[in-house]
Amino acid sequence: MSVRSPWGPTLAFRRAGALLEANALPIQNSQSKIDDEAGEARNLLFLARERDADVTAVDFAEEGLRAARRRAEAAGISLKTTAADARTWRPGRPFDAVLVTFLHLLPEARAESYRRLRDALVPGGLLLAEWFGDAHADKGRFAEIGPPTPKRLISAHELREHFPQGGIEVLEETERDLDEGPILKGRAAVLRFAWRKPIS
Ligand SMILES: C[S@@+](CC[C@H](N)C(=O)[O-])C[C@H]1O[C@@H](n2cnc3c(N)ncnc32)[C@H](O)[C@@H]1O
Repeated sequence: MSVRSPWGPTLAFRRAGALLEANALPIQNSQSKIDDEAGEARNLLFLARERDADVTAVDFAEEGLRAARRRAEAAGISLKTTAADARTWRPGRPFDAVLVTFLHLLPEARAESYRRLRDALVPGGLLLAEWFGDAHADKGRFAEIGPPTPKRLISAHELREHFPQGGIEVLEETERDLDEGPILKGRAAVLRFAWRKPIS
């Protein structure tokens, strides 16, 4: 299946997570998915509901996970949660897909976290991610939201260094209006990334 443009310009982004609202999202039904730094698991609840996905939310904030479980229960959705630090966590088994949205670790922790993300996937598995990109450092234009320091912004160059080039299916730097909850609301320079783990 082609995943060249899961975020085409004609998509109508909605609150539940623009990354995953894309109707071309290249994920089959009923596969296991994990969301690192899930917050309240908005993306996973969307996937579980719309795609019948078996999902696990990971975040080190137990409070967010509790809220996610409440939301899942209220919607009659099955959601597993794991309280863990993305810098050290190892899943018990690899996943078919991993979603990461707006996890902004410090530079010294990122190489290891990228390695863990690669390891968390089955061969052929897909990492889908969105971050504030390094262009977001322009506070003249993007003052309202984003990480507290530009050191936490992610560059395309860094992703190319840490993910074998052949697996990169999308690496897009763009600007958009985030409307994904109170701390993710406003104009943003983002980096969107899809990487498929090689089969061999
Ligand atoms: C900006 S929120 C994004 C939440 C969610 N991914 C979303 O897009 O709505 C960042 C999340 O990352 C989590 N987080 C930050 N550092 C983490 C770490 N080292 N391990 C696990 N979770 C972390 C926070 O608890 C928070 O839920």
